[in-house]
Amino acid sequence: MSDTDKFDEHGSENGEPSRRDFIYIATAATAAVGAGAFAWPLVTQMSAAADTRAAGSIEIDLAKVSEGQQIKVLWRGKPVFVRYRTQEEIDAADAVDVANLRDPQSDDDRFVPNLSGVIDKRLLVMVGVCTHFGCIPVGEQGKIDPMGAFGGWYCPCHGSHYDTSGRIRQGPAPTNLPIPEYTYISDTVIKVG
Ligand code: FES
Repeated sequence: MSDTDKFDEHGSENGEPSRRDFIYIATAATAAVGAGAFAWPLVTQMSAAADTRAAGSIEIDLAKVSEGQQIKVLWRGKPVFVRYRTQEEIDAADAVDVANLRDPQSDDDRFVPNLSGVIDKRLLVMVGVCTHFGCIPVGEQGKIDPMGAFGGWYCPCHGSHYDTSGRIRQGPAPTNLPIPEYTYISDTVIKVG
């Protein structure tokens, strides 16, 4: 069973569109993707070029993601969440006592420095796959999400709650939402994979 099939099985991708669903973008490495061209909750897909599929990498222009917005990009059959966090979300992530986390990791440790060696904590990049059994979490609705107890993401399959850094805080998931391998290739564009 492929990863994509697994998502379908749980109904998170092809079932009834959730009110919490995000902009969903499959992209090509040769075409940087931004959310500016898409209006929520518009669902848009572009076919990845053959060389992109072979390389297994994508480029994402973070400059096109607005504060408070999240985009979802397909990478190697998995969704990658790019969330432009508000200061309130960053502060909430920083306020957590790392020692008490199930999967201890500081918020800073979940970022890759840009070309200037600076960590931009506004732009969180994660693999959007629950670490329990692989469902796709919903959320990052901040305080208005009644299902996410920590203002981040919530996995409806078995009730895992992730905070605004994507760290597991409650429920059966054993580890935080993964950070994919990525690097900055310009001031705003990252290459994932
Ligand atoms: S798959 Fe997410 S809580 Fe079980």
